[in-house]
Amino acid sequence: MQRSNLGNTDVEPRETLPFSQACENNKEAILVVLKTVLASSAHVLEVGSGTGQHSVYFAPHLPHLQWQTSDLDSNHTTIRAWHNAYPSTNLSLPLSLDLAKSDFPVSVSQPLPYDAIFTANTLHIITWPLVERLFALAGDTLPLCGKLIVYGPFNEKGRYTSDSNAQFDQLLQQRNAGSAIRDKEAVIALADSHYLTLIATHAMPANNQLLVFEKVAT
Ligand SMILES: C[S@@+](CC[C@H](N)C(=O)[O-])C[C@H]1O[C@@H](n2cnc3c(N)ncnc32)[C@H](O)[C@@H]1O
Repeated sequence: MQRSNLGNTDVEPRETLPFSQACENNKEAILVVLKTVLASSAHVLEVGSGTGQHSVYFAPHLPHLQWQTSDLDSNHTTIRAWHNAYPSTNLSLPLSLDLAKSDFPVSVSQPLPYDAIFTANTLHIITWPLVERLFALAGDTLPLCGKLIVYGPFNEKGRYTSDSNAQFDQLLQQRNAGSAIRDKEAVIALADSHYLTLIATHAMPANNQLLVFEKVAT
């Protein structure tokens, strides 16, 4: 079934598609920021698109740009299903990206270079060396004034920002020793080393944050 995804009340039938409640809860707060930060962007690469729910919500609300999804191949069937249910002319089917193995994928149908990178809830899942790889690729790829936008939970000065984040971090590390909530200061220092400067921090629901970095030199 094809439908519009412009309305907040348009509920996807959860029984037919893999569904992330977290995406539903945070998509509006993220979109409010993206509308401003991406106002003059033309081509956005989303790293780790997950179910694809964010992409089908954001793309029609940002009609001036092309939204390119990407993830491990194992997630592509789900992302394609969401795109099929909520098509948008400015939404591109997922490209293969495994940060452990590949550079940012290039779209054949949309050869315009990426001028923004968006990623949600990935930094605490992938290992720190892959976080380093993500920032290195963003630093190499983005043009001057290009944006890297990162959403998720962060520690501040080595401390959890909430009890729920502390519990979540324990869960993450039990699941995979390489996963962990990252220290914001370490992420900012990593970004700086790739000429990506933090220009804004937005508080988000459920003790998450949205960090906006800008490429300041090539
Ligand atoms: C917690 S999910 C977040 C998904 C979505 N962005 C969201 O906010 O719901 C983490 C994502 O990181 C992706 N991921 C994990 N390892 C990766 C890797 N090595 N390269 C690229 N993406 C990876 C997963 O496939 C998954 O889509």
